[in-house]
Amino acid sequence: MQKNKQRLSGQTCIVTGANSGIGEAVAVAIGRDGANVVINYVSNPEIAEDIAHKISKDCLCGEAIAIHCDVSQENQVEAMFQKAVNHFGTVDICVPNAGLQRDSPLHEMSLEDWNVVLDVNLTGQFLCAREAIREFLRRGMRPDVSRSLGKIIHMSSVHQIIPWAGHANYAASKGAIVMLMKSICQEYGPHKIRCNSIAPGAIKTPINRDAWKTPEALDELNRLIPYKRIGEPEDIGRVAVWLASDESEYINGTTIFVDGGMTCYPGFTSNG
Ligand code: BGC
Repeated sequence: MQKNKQRLSGQTCIVTGANSGIGEAVAVAIGRDGANVVINYVSNPEIAEDIAHKISKDCLCGEAIAIHCDVSQENQVEAMFQKAVNHFGTVDICVPNAGLQRDSPLHEMSLEDWNVVLDVNLTGQFLCAREAIREFLRRGMRPDVSRSLGKIIHMSSVHQIIPWAGHANYAASKGAIVMLMKSICQEYGPHKIRCNSIAPGAIKTPINRDAWKTPEALDELNRLIPYKRIGEPEDIGRVAVWLASDESEYINGTTIFVDGGMTCYPGFTSNG
């Protein structure tokens, strides 16, 4: 019964930034649906190993391994994919998720803070998508596991459309993800590669701790969310599994907003 429900059996997925927050939840959810998972990390190897161990020891899950890689470094991304292919045979799903914030008013923003955000959030997603596409094309169709040649799920943000004062580098990186994703969709759809994005709203993770750590901060945050609750990483994990599975086969070139309605601008409920 449980086995039949698994949608990703026989497939392998790389999730970047998978040792905390959204990446961890995506990796666990994808593992639970039967896929092998690469838990990519750049720091805290023991946490990554622990997550990989927990996924591997669950008999319903695929196998998981932790691989270190700074996604902004071309040679490291290439090496990570090579290790994944050596270990699992191929890669079927890629979730470029690793991301960070370096917030400051624009007139005070250093070039370094601009570059590091763009390097990880945008260049890192490009490098991972490129390696994934190379591997999908090399390997060819596997109709026994999926109707698509491969699936890429970019982790974007509501800030791909909501401007964000004090976070221009972050918003610019996420705004660019849309066009990266759609261009890949247009270019590789004929090869049966599917490329989509998930745009999370406020999800309870370390990246936005200040926004939920006190009841007052959480009340303030909820004013931005029509559904009146902060998101949990598992909210994103469930959508990622579905987007990776054949259930969503005809979805290509789309962003799925998982934000409790944040992009419906609740500030206008009683104003404007
Ligand atoms: C950011 C969070 C923020 C959320 C909603 C995310 O992309 O990383 O810090 O809470 O968007 O504003």
